[in-house]
Amino acid sequence: MAVLKDPTDLRIPGPTPVPPEVFEAMSQPIIPHRSAEFADMFEGLLAALKRIFNTQDDVYVVAGTGSTGWEASIVNTMSPGDTVIAAVNGNFGVRFCAVAETFGLNVVQLDFEWGQPVTPERVAEALKEHPEAKMVQLVHNETSTGVLNPMKELGEVIREHGALFVADSVSGAAGTPVYMDEWQCDIVFTGSQKAFMCPPGLSIMGLSERVWDVTADAGFHRFLLDFDRIREAAAGGSTPSTAPVTLLFGLKAACDMIEAEGLEALYARHNSLAAHMRSGLSDLGLKLLAAEGYESPTVTVAWTPEGVSAKSIQEALIERHGIYIATGQGHRADELIRIGHMGWTHQPELDRTLEALDDVLEHIPATVG
Ligand SMILES: Cc1ncc(COP(=O)(O)O)c(C=O)c1O
Repeated sequence: MAVLKDPTDLRIPGPTPVPPEVFEAMSQPIIPHRSAEFADMFEGLLAALKRIFNTQDDVYVVAGTGSTGWEASIVNTMSPGDTVIAAVNGNFGVRFCAVAETFGLNVVQLDFEWGQPVTPERVAEALKEHPEAKMVQLVHNETSTGVLNPMKELGEVIREHGALFVADSVSGAAGTPVYMDEWQCDIVFTGSQKAFMCPPGLSIMGLSERVWDVTADAGFHRFLLDFDRIREAAAGGSTPSTAPVTLLFGLKAACDMIEAEGLEALYARHNSLAAHMRSGLSDLGLKLLAAEGYESPTVTVAWTPEGVSAKSIQEALIERHGIYIATGQGHRADELIRIGHMGWTHQPELDRTLEALDDVLEHIPATVG
């Protein structure tokens, strides 16, 4: 039995609701992934993704998820023992550090208070202290805190040093602008299941020219995520292994919807949804986590009222209203609620969530504290 009364009541920050146009595109018969018809669709898709990433360089799509971008960026550009600076202002930053340590990298973890942005000044200091750093990784839009980081300024200090700039835009891209070239990012990655309003299963990766200068020296074995193989296959209009044809049909339809709406209109809609959610939560008396001026357009995070656990709010929303929101993560798991408003989302759904939250907060007894 479905948990949600309405598919648009999936208000976690990904996976997100999938519009009928995308499901319809996904119901097309499978076509051969080495055919002219597939190549035509795939090339059109990669071109649309380049426009969405604002890059003249390459964007590729492979079977995978958001985390695929973490692993792919490490194994294609680093060697065991290399130093990477991870600027961490939330749980997805923490998770990147765990991945980098798994691969034997020397991780310099720069911690920022949750709710605050990563600052270019501290990144510049860390780069000065660690001239050997080969990569700086950070999360464009921290899904655990609802903070949008200042990418242009960060890109400037990173480029000055020369390290690769790797940006995790898993919950950012397609909900807030990505200016890959202007920000001087070397790798930007995302997944299909967030603002791209598709089912989970695709990893989307933008790669700058500088990436190709270092892949030959990277000291990790790699096969499925080898950038050279991915690039070679894409040049022939396909993927190295069997393409996830159905998901790619869906992503192409989603990109068509995004471009039909227009990127500016799309980002304005996300900004306005985020502002609406913030003011609605504040009206309910909830304090927001993200520092002013750095609020995410795709996910809003609020502190629970004193003594009320996030889990109890989440459960009551499901039980009383069939609406699914997310709790916090990491050390803030039970103190924060997170509400996604990206992709196929409009104001009436947010109003439904806010009304339901109002009801739940009235009925829920304080359970912690
Ligand atoms: C910012 C960010 N990075 C990475 C991930 C990991 O993505 P996945 O679970 O699709 O591998 C997520 C997932 O929510 C995310 O929000």
